[in-house]
Amino acid sequence: MGKQSWQNLIDVADIEKNDATPVQFGQQLLAVYDTVDGYFVSNNRCTHAGANLCDGYFDGKNIECPLHQGLFDARTGVAIAAPATRNLQMIKCRVQHGTLQIYI
Ligand code: FES
Repeated sequence: MGKQSWQNLIDVADIEKNDATPVQFGQQLLAVYDTVDGYFVSNNRCTHAGANLCDGYFDGKNIECPLHQGLFDARTGVAIAAPATRNLQMIKCRVQHGTLQIYI
């Protein structure tokens, strides 16, 4: 296991307002959510069957999976509606000089 550190993910200016933005980070596709409580980052793949969450409906708090309408709280990753039962893996983030960084 490598040591974790802050890494640049995306310029804040490139994050879609009040929406979910897909961002490639190395091998992983991540989702950046501009929520009512600020920015949050998770893995972009639905924990039910792997759909791209950023293609789903986002209301500023919850992201709805486009495939079977499972629902997750984008701020905590908690799965709140079936068929999603496993929580999303969230990644700690912060804004530094206009760049969103993740701790990974
Ligand atoms: S793939 Fe997301 S709810 Fe089924």
